[in-house]
Amino acid sequence: MTPAADDASTIPFTPVARVGDIPTGEGRTFEVAGRLIAVFFDGREYHAMDDLCPHMGASLGSGPFVDGLVTCPWHAWRFRVCDGAWCDNEKLKVEVFDVRVAGDAIEVRVPPPRAIDLPTRA
Ligand code: FES
Repeated sequence: MTPAADDASTIPFTPVARVGDIPTGEGRTFEVAGRLIAVFFDGREYHAMDDLCPHMGASLGSGPFVDGLVTCPWHAWRFRVCDGAWCDNEKLKVEVFDVRVAGDAIEVRVPPPRAIDLPTRA
C-alpha cells in the first residue's frame, strides 16, 4: 500500500442517510466501500465506527446507544463511539471514521478494507 493510500484526506465522503433518518440515541448500519459501518446520533453529533463487534461479529449498529457508549446486542461488550475503545480494555478498539453533514446528507469517509498479511512459506 502506498503512503497516499493511507492518507484519509484522499478518501471521498460517501452519503449514507439524511439528517433525521437516525433518531437521537440510536444507530443504523450502512454498507460503504465494501464494509459495514454503524452510524450513531447522540442528539448533537453523528459518529461512525466499524459495525462488526470484535468479539463474535454482532452488528453494533443495532445495539443500545446511551451516553456515548454502544452496547453489543449479543454479549454486552461496550464501546465508546468517539474513539472505538472497548470499555473493559482500551487497548482493543473498533475502527472509527470521519462523519460530516453536507446539506441534509450524513456522509462518512471510509477506507476500503485492508488486505490481511498472511505468513508465507520459505
Ligand atoms: S459479539 Fe459483541 S460482545 Fe459478543
